[in-house]
Amino acid sequence: MKVIFEILRRKNAEEKPYIQNFEYEYTDPLETVATALKNINESLPFPDRIRWECSCMQKKCGACAMLIDGRPRLACDEKLADHGERIRLEPLKKFPPVADLIVDRQAVFDSLKELAVWFENTAEPSEKRADTVHEASRCLQCGCCLEVCPNFSTDSKFKGMAAAVPLSRLIAEADEDEKKRIFKTYSKNFYAGCGKSLACRDICPAGIDTEELMVRSNAAAIWGKKRKK
Ligand code: SF4
Ligand code: SF4
Ligand code: FES
Repeated sequence: MKVIFEILRRKNAEEKPYIQNFEYEYTDPLETVATALKNINESLPFPDRIRWECSCMQKKCGACAMLIDGRPRLACDEKLADHGERIRLEPLKKFPPVADLIVDRQAVFDSLKELAVWFENTAEPSEKRADTVHEASRCLQCGCCLEVCPNFSTDSKFKGMAAAVPLSRLIAEADEDEKKRIFKTYSKNFYAGCGKSLACRDICPAGIDTEELMVRSNAAAIWGKKRKK
């Protein structure tokens, strides 16, 4: 089978981007965009190679997030056979460009630091909340949800679902002393800015049910808190 990749390229953030086409042939119907990029690069001289990020190649690290035919996807999870004869690859647009398909996703990790998304005290695990904790722990910090979120930008106070998902985990297991800080962070940096469009739920490549996590976190951190007043 033949496919033409239309790849948005630039050497660095300053260079004007341009589209370069690559013809590619494959036989395995399960072949992914990531494998195709790897094979195309092997056929190119080193300076011409397409710059993109990957690590695990098995949908576990989030590094290969990019726009594939306009949708944020993981290249290592996107099958060529699910696309037409032309496949367009572009870098995510919400983050500063670095080179070709690489963007600077530091804002995703800075949010976790800024909001101190960790326990200062000891967690209080419970069997009842184990499924919430497990679901939240599957987040790859890939940024796909932020790409489609109408309310997120890298400089906004609203930190989007990539922060809300790990916060859900803390909300589920925080002890009494730490709940106040975590509930306040969730309320100020997520709940107050979320428009509930649920675009994040429909795009998450890890299949995390962001709506369910949000409902549970709202119940505990927003409505539970109000009932106590
Ligand atoms: S919630 Fe899903 S889309 Fe968002 S960062 Fe986590 S894994 Fe990626
Ligand atoms: S529900 Fe909508 S506004 Fe809220 S985090 Fe998801 S995409 Fe963004
Ligand atoms: S390379 Fe790790 S998720 Fe694709």
